[in-house]
Amino acid sequence: MIKVAIVIGSTRPGRNGEGVARWVHDLAARRDDAAFEIVDLRDYDLPHLDEPMPPAMGQYEHPHTMAWAEKIASFDAYVFVTPEYNRSISGALKNAIDFLHAEWANKAAGFVGYGSVGGTRAVEHLRLVLGELQIAVVSSQVALTLAADFEHFSVARPASHQAGRLTAMLDQLIPWAGAMKALRSDAVPAS
Ligand SMILES: Cc1cc2nc3c(=O)[nH]c(=O)nc-3n(C[C@H](O)[C@H](O)[C@H](O)COP(=O)(O)O)c2cc1C
Repeated sequence: MIKVAIVIGSTRPGRNGEGVARWVHDLAARRDDAAFEIVDLRDYDLPHLDEPMPPAMGQYEHPHTMAWAEKIASFDAYVFVTPEYNRSISGALKNAIDFLHAEWANKAAGFVGYGSVGGTRAVEHLRLVLGELQIAVVSSQVALTLAADFEHFSVARPASHQAGRLTAMLDQLIPWAGAMKALRSDAVPAS
């Protein structure tokens, strides 16, 4: 079974990201072609990157890095639920991505962005970052806007058509996750 992480890309108190991730999980869990799990950056309490060796060397010293690496390594694909902060992703999400290297490689990713204009600029940045890590990014994405898809800009209530957008994205993501799994089993180097 393909395993997909739904990564909450915000750690802010009162964040909208948690409600968005729950909406994604509720709809995704109805599928029978993959298993979905919410991964919350808050649970890993990562400091600013504090590993002495570059993550590409794979020589982690700290227990928090090892715990994060073990969790991320356990998935075949990722749905990044990302806010837009100053036209990009949150610092917390970028830091969490930068902590690891091989654990991300030859996997697949899709996006659920949210913000004043659907988190679209954040997702564009994230596509570039993940490309560097050898993650295959699908083209369909969900873009939730604070005015239309949240009550009072703070409670996730995506408009009905957004479920279809999510399905379209997952329909691309899961086959790619399967394809990349075969690549990993051929022991292609990560970098
Ligand atoms: C530091 C900060 C910067 C933001 N910058 C943008 C932005 O550039 N574009 C945008 O559309 N929304 C922006 N917003 C609005 C956020 O996308 C929106 O508040 C979203 O709910 C934040 O995600 P979170 O609640 O899960 O932390 C910003 C919010 C914060 C806190």
